[in-house]
Amino acid sequence: MGSIIQLAVSLVGVFVLARFGYQFRRIYLRSQVTTIPSIFFLFGTPLRFFVPNIPLINPINRTHWAVRFERYRQIQSSVFKTETPSKEHSSIWLADKMAIKTVSTNRKSWAKPIQLYRVLDLFGKNLVTTEGPEWKAHRRIVGPSFSEGVYKRVWNTSLVALEQMFQTEGLADLKPGEEIQIEDVTHVTMRLALVVIAREAFSFDMEYDSKRDTNAKSLAGDHTMSAADALAVVSQSTLVKVLCPNWMYKIPNIPYVSERLAKIKDAFTNLDNYMLEMMADRRASSLAGEEVRSDLFDSLWRAADDNLDKQVDGETKWSFSDREVVGNTFIFLLAGHETNGHSRFSFLPPTVKYPLVVFTDGRLFFQQSLHPEKQVELLEHILTVLPRGRQPIYEDFQKLTHTMAVLYETLRLFPAVAVIPKVSTEDTTLKYQDIGGDNGIKTIFVPKGTDVTIDTPALHTNPLYWKDPLSFKPERFLEDYEKDAFIPFSAGPRACVGRRFAEVSNMVFLSLVVRDYEVVAIPRPGETEEAMRDRLVRAKPVLTLTPCGAVDLMFKRRA
Ligand code: HEM
Repeated sequence: MGSIIQLAVSLVGVFVLARFGYQFRRIYLRSQVTTIPSIFFLFGTPLRFFVPNIPLINPINRTHWAVRFERYRQIQSSVFKTETPSKEHSSIWLADKMAIKTVSTNRKSWAKPIQLYRVLDLFGKNLVTTEGPEWKAHRRIVGPSFSEGVYKRVWNTSLVALEQMFQTEGLADLKPGEEIQIEDVTHVTMRLALVVIAREAFSFDMEYDSKRDTNAKSLAGDHTMSAADALAVVSQSTLVKVLCPNWMYKIPNIPYVSERLAKIKDAFTNLDNYMLEMMADRRASSLAGEEVRSDLFDSLWRAADDNLDKQVDGETKWSFSDREVVGNTFIFLLAGHETNGHSRFSFLPPTVKYPLVVFTDGRLFFQQSLHPEKQVELLEHILTVLPRGRQPIYEDFQKLTHTMAVLYETLRLFPAVAVIPKVSTEDTTLKYQDIGGDNGIKTIFVPKGTDVTIDTPALHTNPLYWKDPLSFKPERFLEDYEKDAFIPFSAGPRACVGRRFAEVSNMVFLSLVVRDYEVVAIPRPGETEEAMRDRLVRAKPVLTLTPCGAVDLMFKRRA
């Protein structure tokens, strides 16, 4: 009996080995006839992201973003392909602006592989999870909701949120020269972002200080959780909800886990019901001729109703359901706030001492690489637009050019969305600039169904487009720069619809924090400055690029 089992196991082993060998040989032979370099690895996406970086077995994993252009430099090509034994088609990685522009703008030959995004249909289909005519209809309805009126409100809401933050965290009470330490400051930025998105997208009047959150705290109808609490839990648990299949929520009595999952499920149900009720209320008020609050949610359901029964693309009849209004509102929360419980951003590129904070929605970009004189330059510029004591107005936004340059430079080095996947929908070609030979233009053939990865951190540090690419130099954005080589919000028709929303909010946060406070990173006991910088730049792509450690900051009131 024993020997039969041994024989069976051996046969299976031989079969598996033979199959791997056959696949490798096939891929190897194919790689010999193509014109771009290949990188082999054993695992396909997404498994490879969780496997450590092992040369030849798994050369590209979650830390790939930090390598930036270095891999391309080593192989002397800004385009390469990866091969795995398990995939029929290879995947092509791009750090070339010409090829990336084609993939982003030519919608006939290139699409978004939406099967990767289906998990985000948690509340209903939305702009992120659709393609083709369905996506077009979503964009047509959602796009106009982001208007100048909305940005003006986002500006004012960000001011209110920041003011509340200064009060709650004790910054408002500091006298010139006094300082206060905030431990793991990312809870501050996460809450700030949540307050802005809650007010602007969901109409929930959240307060920065959750204890004072009386407005949004009242329980209505059959709800088991307040709107503010439901929103807070959902915003921190999207990744858990995405990763845990439904049956997991039914397993009783696993210590801690069952209780936590039940709370998450409850929060999702509550938020869903709040949104559906809000829509019904808005419709009723509108019909009764009552004045309703003007926000993203309002423009969304109105636009959806206006578009009912319109024709899209000739044949396709399209109407936007209540579920899709809710699905899109949720995607604003996800895109505009946080994608998982630990998603925080804190960065210290490794050159200089004096840090500068750059808030973005739900993230804190923490920049150490500004030379002290540069930080002073930024402060001086902010003061020319916003003298101390004057409240900023929306019209200041365009004038805060240096603050915008700092935000852009941060997003260049640390793009929140580290890779953007695309797929070819027909046999096509891609042109790119050869960096290994004569810098001439080369063309490769790309068969239908090929996966392509836009490697944003590598494009953003490709020396063809960026001088001294690893240095933090915001001033490059005050001059002419390579627009096609800067895509933190993606490019083409599927670029970020919330770009201006994010920029406006960040201009308020960054300008006022830098104007009134000096912000310094605090090393851990016994930690050298070098070690602190290394710790703070570590990040991993989860749904977006996510920092690995806590950020403790000192805020010192400027004189
Ligand atoms: C610094 C902040 C932000 C960054 C870096 C960013 C970046 C991006 C990127 C790279 C994409 C393309 C993703 C892909 O194709 O896979 C995207 C799409 C999108 N973003 Fe943002 N985003 C930010 C803030 C926001 C905000 C505040 C909102 C909404 C309030 C938003 C809403 C969206 C939506 C709805 C899409 C899908 C657009 C479409 O497919 O047509 N984003 N964003």
